[in-house]
Amino acid sequence: MAITPGKRMLRALKGERLDKPPFWLMRQAGRYLPEYREIRSQAGGFLDLCFSPKLACEVTLQPIRRYGMDAAILFSDILIVPYGLGQGVAFKEGEGPVLDPVRNASDLSRLSLDGFHERVAPVYETVTRIAEALPKETTLIGFAGSPWTVATYMAEGGGSKEFVAVKRWAYGDPEGFGQLIDLLVEATVSYLSRQVEAGAEVLQLFDSWAGALPEPGFRRWCIEPTIRIVAALKARHPDIPIIGFPRGAGTLYVPYATETGIDAVSLDTTVSVAWAAEALQSKLPVQGNLDPILLVAGGDALDREVERILSGFSGGAHIFNLGHGVTQTTPPETVERLARRLRA
Ligand code: CP3
Repeated sequence: MAITPGKRMLRALKGERLDKPPFWLMRQAGRYLPEYREIRSQAGGFLDLCFSPKLACEVTLQPIRRYGMDAAILFSDILIVPYGLGQGVAFKEGEGPVLDPVRNASDLSRLSLDGFHERVAPVYETVTRIAEALPKETTLIGFAGSPWTVATYMAEGGGSKEFVAVKRWAYGDPEGFGQLIDLLVEATVSYLSRQVEAGAEVLQLFDSWAGALPEPGFRRWCIEPTIRIVAALKARHPDIPIIGFPRGAGTLYVPYATETGIDAVSLDTTVSVAWAAEALQSKLPVQGNLDPILLVAGGDALDREVERILSGFSGGAHIFNLGHGVTQTTPPETVERLARRLRA
């Protein structure tokens, strides 16, 4: 049998069905790993870690050394873009991100693309370092948050449950809110383009709060900006594969996957495997969608779910991943158990 050349992750993204699907895990670098906590305490703050190319490269490689994933994801954060635009961003211990809220035209007028690349330059250097250090079979993923999700943090001033501030703006003044989205589209294209030039081989767009919007808002603030980002990136880098992750989109996964121009779609945990195989995987590669809490629980429950997902997506191109990020209380041993099964 002929062996197709190329990295397994890139082959799957081109639509190839592999007997052993490639795998990586969202938030595969992070606080569940003792060696991450060690580096994190050396770095000082979380943003200091993101802006230290040497340390950020090191934490990116940590899970690859332990588990041999097929892809490494740049260690950074989606809130680097608002920081680069001039918004105040801080990560408070035990509290998560805190931002100076941007809620109207006058707040928006203080943000700008001038100096953006200078402010985020260490991220590009991190990408170059990782690209040089990775094993030759491992693919490097760059990423950004999608405009809607980044805008939720920018307007709320941090995480949110009900999204009152961002929705009040989007519903009450769609033209004004649209200017924030336009700025984010432009920043995201330029930021991801530089990641590709620095060595990223795949890009992922995280729309973690896509599921907070009803259909018209989803089309306007998730699908439309994604169409523009994908088109602009493909114009500059025609061969770059782009994975979209509209978390919580439900049935709107279909228009998102088929209308945005993305190459693969990442599925959250709630998406039915049988439905997705039929409605999505028949059209493009899918990524996902193990419940990250099964990596906390481990045991037979984990094994059963892994088999169910592998067999449900065995008919087409599949990248094994979680439905959301690895959580902090995950024992590294259960990740090892998963990795052993996926490499077997
Ligand atoms: O390994 C990887 O996946 C790469 C690194 C990565 C991080 N954040 C590191 C991080 C990626 C891809 C992200 C994306 C991100 N960041 C998203 C989209 C994905 C998702 O989870 O929905 C979002 C919404 C954020 C915003 C963000 N960053 C929040 C809400 C928090 C606080 C919550 C928490 O877990 O503390 C962060 C901080 C953050 N980003 C950490 C890590 C490893 C923890 C920081 C620490 O070490 O204290």
